[in-house]
Amino acid sequence: MKLCVAVLLFYMFQLIHGQPDYQGFISIDCGIPLNSTYQDSITNIVYVSDYGFITTGENRIISSDYMEPSLAKRYSNLRFFPHGPRNCYTLRSLVMGNKYLVRASFYYGNYDGLGKPPVFDLYLGTNYWHEVNYSDAGAFNWMDIILVAPTDYLQVCLVNKGMGNPFVSGLDLRPLNTTLYPEVNASQSLVLVNSNRFHMGPTDNSIIRYPSDPLDRIWTTYNAIPNCTTISATSPMHNNLRDVYDVPPSVMQNAATVNSSRIDFSWNPSDPSANINSKYFFIFYFAELQHVPSKAVRQFDIIINNKTWNRRPYTPTFLFANYFSGVVQGMENYSVSLVATKNATLPPILNAMEMYLVKLITAVATDPGDARAMMAIQDNFGVVKNWMGDPCTPKAFIWRGLNCSYPSASPSEIMGLNLSSFGLVGAISTNFRDLKALHYLDLSHNNLSGPIPNFIGELSSLMFLDLSSNDLSGPIPYSLLQRSQNGSLSLRVGGNPNLCGNGTSCKPVRKKINGTLLAAIVVPIVIAITLFVILFLLRQALKGKAKRKATGHEDGSALLGSREFSYKELKHITNNFSQEIGKGGFGPVFLGYLENGNPVAVKVRSESSSQGGKEFLAEAQHLTRIHHKNLVSLVGYCKDRNHLALVYEYMPEGSLQDHLRATSTSKPLTWKQRLQIALDAAQGLEYLHIACKPALIHRDVKSRNILLTTDLGAKIADFGLTKAFSDSKTHITTEPAGTIGYLDPEYFRSYHISEKSDMYSFGVVLLELITGHAPVIPISDSMSIHIGEWVHESLDQGNIESIVDAKMGGDYDINSVWKAADLALHCKQEVSRERPTMAEVVAQLKECLELENRCSERRGNLSSNDDNLTCPGEGNALEVEEEERQQQQGGEIQAAAGPAMR
Ligand SMILES: *[C@@H]1O[C@H](CO)[C@@H](O)[C@H](O)[C@H]1NC(C)=O
Ligand SMILES: *[C@@H]1O[C@H](CO)[C@@H](O)[C@H](O)[C@H]1NC(C)=O
Ligand SMILES: *[C@@H]1O[C@H](CO)[C@@H](O)[C@H](O)[C@H]1NC(C)=O
Ligand SMILES: *[C@@H]1O[C@H](CO)[C@@H](O)[C@H](O)[C@H]1NC(C)=O
Ligand SMILES: *[C@@H]1O[C@H](CO)[C@@H](O)[C@H](O)[C@H]1NC(C)=O
Ligand SMILES: *[C@@H]1O[C@H](CO)[C@@H](O)[C@H](O)[C@H]1NC(C)=O
Ligand SMILES: *[C@@H]1O[C@H](CO)[C@@H](O)[C@H](O)[C@H]1NC(C)=O
Ligand SMILES: *[C@@H]1O[C@H](CO)[C@@H](O)[C@H](O)[C@H]1NC(C)=O
Repeated sequence: MKLCVAVLLFYMFQLIHGQPDYQGFISIDCGIPLNSTYQDSITNIVYVSDYGFITTGENRIISSDYMEPSLAKRYSNLRFFPHGPRNCYTLRSLVMGNKYLVRASFYYGNYDGLGKPPVFDLYLGTNYWHEVNYSDAGAFNWMDIILVAPTDYLQVCLVNKGMGNPFVSGLDLRPLNTTLYPEVNASQSLVLVNSNRFHMGPTDNSIIRYPSDPLDRIWTTYNAIPNCTTISATSPMHNNLRDVYDVPPSVMQNAATVNSSRIDFSWNPSDPSANINSKYFFIFYFAELQHVPSKAVRQFDIIINNKTWNRRPYTPTFLFANYFSGVVQGMENYSVSLVATKNATLPPILNAMEMYLVKLITAVATDPGDARAMMAIQDNFGVVKNWMGDPCTPKAFIWRGLNCSYPSASPSEIMGLNLSSFGLVGAISTNFRDLKALHYLDLSHNNLSGPIPNFIGELSSLMFLDLSSNDLSGPIPYSLLQRSQNGSLSLRVGGNPNLCGNGTSCKPVRKKINGTLLAAIVVPIVIAITLFVILFLLRQALKGKAKRKATGHEDGSALLGSREFSYKELKHITNNFSQEIGKGGFGPVFLGYLENGNPVAVKVRSESSSQGGKEFLAEAQHLTRIHHKNLVSLVGYCKDRNHLALVYEYMPEGSLQDHLRATSTSKPLTWKQRLQIALDAAQGLEYLHIACKPALIHRDVKSRNILLTTDLGAKIADFGLTKAFSDSKTHITTEPAGTIGYLDPEYFRSYHISEKSDMYSFGVVLLELITGHAPVIPISDSMSIHIGEWVHESLDQGNIESIVDAKMGGDYDINSVWKAADLALHCKQEVSRERPTMAEVVAQLKECLELENRCSERRGNLSSNDDNLTCPGEGNALEVEEEERQQQQGGEIQAAAGPAMR
């Protein structure tokens, strides 16, 4: 008896700490008072409060109108989340790689008096689980997912999508044997959106779950089979597929049958978010329940959507469960027919079935080590903020203060941590040690106390550490001082009055020990240390001076805003040039991180000749002074014996070319986005041409040199590079540099370069934006045609639709495209003086954008069933433009009838 109480107490204790109970169950009744628990009278499952699983949200009781005596306790209250876009429960102490069933239950019960259940999204960690859209306020709903745990914890996240506050009534986790549901693996999970797990018991809405089903799946009765009757087993079942689906005997012991030769019914997902791509996984269970006389035959075919799933006529085995399963897709209604064969004398039967939505698991989460460390740091300091769910992903919900890397195929890593003024109290947590990729750590302006732990000095990637304005004490670890001295770590420790080691010696520990012996030992040591420190500092100071002289840094003000990097620094910033993000005309480009955690692109030209070094330096210094929002800014440069390199701000969305050629995975650019990109690029070039004295000619304008920011703003890259990297001293007549397809034919012939050469190339880029094609379009194995010529031919025939990039899905204002196409052809006229200036181009593009905006407004106003998305022009305005266009084209044909570039 005592033992029992002890066991119960033990596992209650376990439960309230947010962990599974002795059978591995987690059963949360969301919304009950914190730390309370109770045992459900029907299932005997002990339910616990949210405590230990989540820190946000508020509890509510459902409206009394929905409160009925028969209502299970867990539905009478709920937890809702009025704050923050994402709120997550964390279920811990699982076994990574094991299978689990997770169930979220929802009973709205008009708890908020709004009379309208919210619509929100459910995520399991980083992976989208499903939309929660149950419109019946008085219905019990639940959603199951069977999955392989990717880590030793799972996070169930409720995401507000602006359609009401997310809420949840209950959350259950049940472990499954790994052999069960073999369709579920690390890359695929099964989701039960509605209660699509059925037994065929008497139709009194009886539910079978724990303990009848040890896995606590919920089986409901199915009563949509027309004219069916129920038969029941008279003796116990022998086999219930323990290894695959472990269907409980209580589920198998009843079956539906009919009075005719076939069972026919149809099933639909009743899921508003289902579509043609939704895949479902069906399992049908059969077992003979009656003694079949020797003359009688029960034999049937299982036909799903006119497809027979059994190879031979099927006869269920007496008291042995069997199953047929398969994947179906693309229907609104799935038809199920069990049809007796010719030889059969008994009708078909069906004992149970399950219908799951198949979900692929694709999202890559944060590196598990980093994520675990962050969760421990959060626990340690009790940080709330938005620190829930996966730390780095999805990017939109990144934890405040974090800076993560997002490699395409591997997990995100935490690169930077800015916890300045986070109210952290106590010792520096040892969990920081596990953030292996950390480059930047700012813990300033907190109340951290105790010593600076040694492991901080062992974080090998760390380049910036700010511990200032805390209450840290004791010496600064030698490893940190050393790294700070040799320049590999930028260290700030000011504002910690009890810290010593930076020039100040540690105060002797004030303990009253008398005895000359102690003094005799301590004094010489102190003197020795002091001497050593003085010598050390002296040496470093001398060394520092020597170094500054060598790099000519004494006059720091000369290179305002620019920075000269040593090759060693570049090596450090780029982690020994480990992540190549592209290849420019001058060599590879690498991703790196500055001390402050900012990402940069490092463009390297190695094995450089010794000549040209001076020009390069002058040019690089010149370029660092050029600042415009549409020019990629140069952070610094490196000229270190044989190495030339430029360090640029990093542009996360890559190049325009990647986006147009769909080598990027993101959505195709809309016409409006394309116009905005063109306008941005034009403004960048305009600045180079007009604001720079003398005018700076880019010479290599192309879609690959237009880079995109996160919100698809465009910046011109590589301006002045030709000059900077060129060995020649003269600028005006120089070997034509540039890229085939973009190259100004006049410049090519005459070697005379001007702003108008950039215009030509820009025209080609504009054509690329319109058509999505590369500048040189292959038409056969040996022949190709220049994009300008091709567009020209199509436009002559008045056929613009045929050239417009199909990826835009026809969603653009035709007048705006015409105008842009005209402008593009105008830019790439043969004779350079006939090309417009950048200022003119900017003005024209603004008009294109305005046309498109006006049109898209009108498109927005159309009702959704109106498919007519092209905009008619506005009466006379259109005609005027039409005329203008034809006139322009007339002139154009003559001007552009030059040879095509091959
Ligand atoms: C719940 O229990 C934990 C530990 O047992 C305790 O720290 C916490 O204050 C309790 N919370 C409430 C609201 O009682
Ligand atoms: C929610 O479901 C209803 C039908 O049940 C549907 O009309 C509505 O569009 C759905 N809402 C969302 C946001 O999916
Ligand atoms: C898992 O399978 C093994 C072997 O079949 C069995 O011994 C064990 O009891 C099963 N565990 C559960 C939780 O069903
Ligand atoms: C998961 O199962 C699916 C279908 O059974 C299979 O295509 C896929 O390769 C499996 N993935 C893994 C990681 O085993
Ligand atoms: C159900 O039975 C009734 C009467 O026997 C019959 O009229 C009806 O057609 C049957 N319905 C189906 C769908 O078989
Ligand atoms: C099944 O076949 C019938 C008749 O051939 C046809 O009317 C029906 O559309 C088919 N159903 C499906 C789901 O293919
Ligand atoms: C039906 O019964 C006949 C005679 O017993 C047998 O020859 C035939 O193979 C059976 N057909 C099927 C489909 O079982
Ligand atoms: C050490 O102290 C000096 C002056 O007191 C200060 O300038 C320097 O930044 C300190 N070093 C560190 C690593 O904080």
